[in-house]
Order: sequence, then C-alpha cells, then structure tokens
Amino acid sequence: MIPEALRHELQARVAHAVTNREAAVDVMKELQRHYGWLTDEAVREAAELLGLTPLQVEELATFYEMIYRRPVGRRVIHVCDSISCWAVGGVTLMNFLAEHLGVAPGGMTADGVFTLLPCCCLGNCGEGPTMMIGDTLYGRVTPERAEEILRREREAVGAAKGADHGQDQAGL
Ligand code: FES
Repeated sequence: MIPEALRHELQARVAHAVTNREAAVDVMKELQRHYGWLTDEAVREAAELLGLTPLQVEELATFYEMIYRRPVGRRVIHVCDSISCWAVGGVTLMNFLAEHLGVAPGGMTADGVFTLLPCCCLGNCGEGPTMMIGDTLYGRVTPERAEEILRREREAVGAAKGADHGQDQAGL
C-alpha cells in the first residue's frame, strides 16, 4: 500500500488533469517508482486513483515501454533497436551490454542492479547508437563508453543502498 502522502499527491495530480486518463502515465510512473515496478497491487491502486478499471490500467501499462509489469533491476537500460541506431552499431552495443552484464536482452543481472531491454526509437536518431537509463539519454555509445556509464550507474546504486542502510540503522 502506498503512503498517505503519496496518495494525496497523486489525487491532486489527477484532479488537476483535464481527464483522468491524461494523468494515467504520471500515476503509473510514480507507483512504479514506489514499488520498483508496476505490481498488481499498484495496478489496483492506479485504477482507484484514476477512476478506471484495473483492466483499463493494464491496457495502458502494457502499451508504454517504460512501464514495467514484471520485476526489473534498480537501473533499466533501454537500448534503441530502430533503424537509425541499428545502422550505426546498435546491434554491437546490445551484444556488448548482454555479454558484459551476463544477461540476454530482456533479462536482469543476478545482483538485481540492471535490466537490459531493447526498445523502439528514443528520438535521438542522429546520435546513435542510443541507450537510456532512467531519464538520462546517452548517444554515440561505444562499448568503451557503455562500460564507463555502467560503472558509474553501479556506483550510484551502491551509494543509494548505503544511504538507505544508514537510514535504517538510524531508525529513520
Ligand atoms: S533510431 Fe535510435 S534513437 Fe531513433
């Protein structure tokens, strides 16, 4: 169950939207941020907040690539597999990432840090190959650059975990 503060925040956002459906992606993304992925419970909560049925939310959720209906790693790597990126090394990038992380496309690393997903055009066609992690878009990604980006992302996840652990220890 989501905290009351988040529920009130989302209710306010829905109230300010022109239609409830307009707020659907926003609501699903916030619930996903809270749970790590859009769980069945989150679908029911989104439906309640939006005044839709769970099935309607499910339909919206499966339409958007950035909404995850299965558990994902702390960082989701979206690798563009559309034509412009494909033409400038998109396959090489995906193969490198899969080998480096030890997962097939669609999979999650054993430590739960990364999920690797192919995706449609990310709107960065002139700067391919392109990948996106969280809200950050990376263009002209060579395998060397990808390795460096993953190293930094892994460090950031480690730092965030450390901070969470510190809060737990402090009883926060
Ligand atoms: S084709 Fe890759 S970003 Fe458009």
